[in-house]
Amino acid sequence: MTTYLDNAATSFPKPEGVYAALDWFARHTLANPGRSGHRMAQAAEHAVADARHRLNRFFNGRDPNRFVFTLNATDALNMAFKGVLDAGDHVITTDLEHNSVSRPLEALVEVGRITLTRIPSDAGGTIDPADIQGAITSKTRLIALTHASNVLGTVQPVGDVGRIAREHDLLFLVDAAQTAGVVPIDVQALCIDLLAIPGHKSLLGPTGTGALYVGPRAVVRPWREGGTGGDSLTRTQPTDFPHALEGGTPNVLGIAGLVAGLDFVESRGVNEIRRHEIELCDRFRLALAELPEFRVYGHSDPGRRVGTVSFGCELISTPDLGGILDTSFDIAVRAGLHCAPYIHRSLGTVPEGLVRISPGPFTIPADIDRLIDALKNVIGGL
Ligand code: ALA
Repeated sequence: MTTYLDNAATSFPKPEGVYAALDWFARHTLANPGRSGHRMAQAAEHAVADARHRLNRFFNGRDPNRFVFTLNATDALNMAFKGVLDAGDHVITTDLEHNSVSRPLEALVEVGRITLTRIPSDAGGTIDPADIQGAITSKTRLIALTHASNVLGTVQPVGDVGRIAREHDLLFLVDAAQTAGVVPIDVQALCIDLLAIPGHKSLLGPTGTGALYVGPRAVVRPWREGGTGGDSLTRTQPTDFPHALEGGTPNVLGIAGLVAGLDFVESRGVNEIRRHEIELCDRFRLALAELPEFRVYGHSDPGRRVGTVSFGCELISTPDLGGILDTSFDIAVRAGLHCAPYIHRSLGTVPEGLVRISPGPFTIPADIDRLIDALKNVIGGL
C-alpha cells in the first residue's frame, strides 16, 4: 500500500462518503442538469444547486449563484484573468504564485494587454502587504495572490491585502488551491472579489471539480460560451449567474462527490484538519533537524503554514530522491519545481527544485516515520 504524501497535488484517499456518493449518484441521478426537464434531470439540477448553496455557506459568499463550477483552480483562474482584464490594466502579483496564475498573466503581458509587477516574498516565504501597497499605480486594476504557497506552505496575509485592495478600489483575486478546506475563508470579511477553488484538494472531492466565486464588484466576461439549459433563445451567452460563465454540461457527478467531501470537512472541522496536518509536518521537521544532510525551507512557525514541507538533500539530487522514495519505498511525494518557478528561483533551488511532502486528513504518524526511515536508509546507503 502506497504511503501517499502528495495531498497538495490532489488529496488521496477520499473520505468513504465521497466514494459512496459517486457510486450512488452515477447509478441513480446522472442525468444532464438543467436540461430536458424530466425528474432525473431535475434531481441532477437540485444536486448542483445544493452544492452552490453549500459553497456559499462555507465561504460566506454573497449569493450561491456566484459560485461558478469549473474543472479545477486553474480553470477558475483563467476564467477570471481572461474575463476581467482589459487593455492597459496593471496587475500586481507575487513570486509565490503557481503557473496557473503566472502563465495566463505573462501571456497577457506578452500580447501587450497588461503590465505586471511581481512582488518578492521574504526569505521564509511571506509577502509584506506594504510592498503590494507600494506597487499600486493609477493603472492597477487587480491584485492576484495565492493564499498559501504550494512549495513552502506559508499562509499569506490575505486580510491585509484585501483591505488595501478595497481602499484603492482594486479587484482582489485569491488562489485558494492550497487552503480551501484547511484554512477558514470568509470572502466578504477578507474583501475577496474573485476566489479560485479546487474541489479535489483539501475539499476532498474528485478531480475535475473546482469553482470560481465572483463577487458583486467583479464583472467577468464569459470565456466558455454554449448551452445553459434554460434560455435557448438569446443570441449570445445569458448574462445571469451562474449561466453567464457555465456553458456546457457541468461535471455533475464530480460535484456530487465534492458535496460529500465538504460533508467530511465540515464534520471534522477545517481547523482540526489543519492542526492534524501541521502536527504531522512538525513531526517530520523535527526528525529532519537531526539529519544534517537535509535542509527544510520556509517559515518554521506552524501558525503561518498549512501542511506542506519542502526540503532538499546535499548528497543526492531532488529527482533521484523522489524517484527512490517512489520505486524503492512506495512513498509518493512531489519532487521538482512544483509549477512554481519564481519562488524556486528566489530560493536558489532551480533547476532541480525540492522534495515536497503534504500529508492529508488520513495520514498517520506511522506514515511520517516510514518516510523518515526511508530517508535515513537512502543517505546511509550512499
Ligand atoms: N498545484 C498542484 C501542486 O502543487 C498540482 O502540486
